[in-house]
Amino acid sequence: MSHLGIEPLHDDFGARVTGTALTGHMPDGDLAAIRDAIDTYSFLCFPGQDMTDEKQLAFTRLLGEAEAEHVTLGKTGKVTYFGTVGNVEDDGSKRDNAHASTRYATGNQLWHSDSSFREVPSFVSILHAYEVPGEGGATAFASMRAAYGQLDGDLRETIAPLGVIHDYVFSRSQVAPVDPNHAASLPPVMHRLVRENPANGLKNYYVGSHARSIPGWSGIDSRRLLDELLERATQPRHIYAHGWQAGDTAIWDNRCMLHRGTGYDASRWRRRMRQTRVTGREKGIIHGAPAPR
Ligand code: OGA
Ligand code: MN
Repeated sequence: MSHLGIEPLHDDFGARVTGTALTGHMPDGDLAAIRDAIDTYSFLCFPGQDMTDEKQLAFTRLLGEAEAEHVTLGKTGKVTYFGTVGNVEDDGSKRDNAHASTRYATGNQLWHSDSSFREVPSFVSILHAYEVPGEGGATAFASMRAAYGQLDGDLRETIAPLGVIHDYVFSRSQVAPVDPNHAASLPPVMHRLVRENPANGLKNYYVGSHARSIPGWSGIDSRRLLDELLERATQPRHIYAHGWQAGDTAIWDNRCMLHRGTGYDASRWRRRMRQTRVTGREKGIIHGAPAPR
């Protein structure tokens, strides 16, 4: 049995979870309750966690296989498991607004699902906040499950059989050039546009900034549909913006959620967060390879 406290954060999704530490020995009941809560709420925030990288990686592995961080992997071939979110370097120095990495990170201000551009996209992201800006720096979330639930029957039928190409170079080159090795490591990949949660059967669509086109559709029709689906999911009343407190650990379900950074003044404030991800179970198809079915 679990004694977790679960308080919903928004009508569509999200919960604040208390009564458990992600950083020590985790009772089986707590882990099972967290897995259930991921399937049910899609976004979980655990305040006041006494986190370190080592503890975060250990917790990440309780949920599944840690995903190799794609920037380092693509550029150097080295497997690492952490991404730093924010503007603080490993040596503690701060990058300001003019720094190239700050600009590159603005790609995260487009609505997206982490790793949707990978052959095997991620299941969840886990983000721990160490330092937060005094102003700004919230992360906004919206549910493509809730949005799917609001579609009329005709549109559901239209999108049911479709694939969607997700392409990192397409999305990221809108804000900054992508390193050639990194780009070569991430060929466009096709996923099903409609996905289903295997635990509860709930469906969602799967779009975001990396979604480039619909195979078999013209460019213009693809864009119209993908933009419309994104817009429906991200109406203001469907957004929960998480204002981070130092010590928050959040977990979100990339299979069905969109998120985006809302920005902050990097020249003025420090923001340091560490992210790990758990690999998903559903495999897409590298674009151009023969379809398996
Ligand atoms: C992320 C992300 C945006 C932000 O951590 O995956 O997209 O800066 N973050 O809040
Ligand atoms: Mn992200």
